[in-house]
Amino acid sequence: LERYTEGMKFSPLTKRIAPTQEQDDLDAWEVHNLAVDRVAAGDDVILLSIGQEANEVTPPAIVDAAIDSLRAGRHHYSDVRGEHELRQAIARYHLQLTGQSVNADDCTVYAGAQNALFAVAQVLLESGDEAILSEPFYSTYRATFGATGAHLISLPVHRDNHYQLDTDAIVDAITARTRAIILNTPNNPLGTCYSIEQLEVIADACVANDIWLVLDTVYADIVDVKSLALPHRLSAIEHNLITVGSLSKSHRMTGWRIGWAIGPAPLATHLGNLSMCMHYGLPPFIMDAAIAALRDAADTPRTVQQHIAHRRQLVHQHLHPLGKIVLHDSGQGMFVILDVTDLGITAREFALGLLEHCAVAVLPCDGFGPAGRTLIRLGLCVDDEQLVVACQRIVSFIAMRA
Ligand SMILES: Cc1ncc(COP(=O)(O)O)c(C=O)c1O
Repeated sequence: LERYTEGMKFSPLTKRIAPTQEQDDLDAWEVHNLAVDRVAAGDDVILLSIGQEANEVTPPAIVDAAIDSLRAGRHHYSDVRGEHELRQAIARYHLQLTGQSVNADDCTVYAGAQNALFAVAQVLLESGDEAILSEPFYSTYRATFGATGAHLISLPVHRDNHYQLDTDAIVDAITARTRAIILNTPNNPLGTCYSIEQLEVIADACVANDIWLVLDTVYADIVDVKSLALPHRLSAIEHNLITVGSLSKSHRMTGWRIGWAIGPAPLATHLGNLSMCMHYGLPPFIMDAAIAALRDAADTPRTVQQHIAHRRQLVHQHLHPLGKIVLHDSGQGMFVILDVTDLGITAREFALGLLEHCAVAVLPCDGFGPAGRTLIRLGLCVDDEQLVVACQRIVSFIAMRA
């Protein structure tokens, strides 16, 4: 950490957002970055390490809306909370997804769910607080929530328990210092959709202890509706519930940077104050594109879901035999998981070997907390042909090692 502290003086925040010593050794994106360099050098490397459909483009209706908007001069300052028409559209979308009725004023627009999570963390947490997470958790969470100075209580899921959310451990971990429980359903990397019973236990505990439930739902619209349970209709939780979402995955808009946070009215006031001094409003033409996405591309999440479901089948068809590796597929989300525990090596070692010998990049889940150290995430995001070749290469790598 010396390189962050020596010489010029920086705030302690810089330490909280920097990779930890542990993560310096286990850089979450190391394998991916090596693979990207090889692709740039012209190597035929297949990238299963990312969480976006890189070969797909944003639907034309959305792109056209942005272009028309720019041409119409919609490139000036805007409402810091997000333009009213977009917040109304987000409120309608939220009602459809969750069953919870909210107003435009309960919604605050951000440059993606990542930006919304950071802002929410800032207005909820401070040094000395505790925030509870289920591990493995999305790799940015440590710095996003840790930046506030809050202590992160991270509770691992276990293979013996089919990687299910450990609700008892979460409830037991609540102390007088706990301010929030942070969950992501469907989960990245595991794909797990939490059940309504699990969410009810968590929601009840949040209400009883008067703490926040922050729910990251960026994948919620691309899962099978029958598998998705959300806590929004559970009684009383609405005062403690904050929902973070975006159009990144559902509408193939990762690079547009558009997302939101939704919660009780005072939350929006604090978020608005923060937005005022943080980004001072988002680009109106991006917000017009988001309105078009919600209005004219409402079927895109289903298309994304179907594509991913099809690729999931291809993986089941072509990714065997796996020897001592266990394939964990929740059936939802954008990924499947390989558990290499029984190989006696770490996920990172496996991934580096696979990249070197077979030119496939996968994501070791080290960056998702220590529970991810033996897990590998495979993105179902490349086209079918590439995915099949990647599966064949993985199988031959396993055979080489046997
Ligand atoms: C669980 C989770 N939350 C948030 C994000 C960030 O999404 P956005 O692109 O909307 O910022 C991602 C991106 O991969 C994610 O997987």
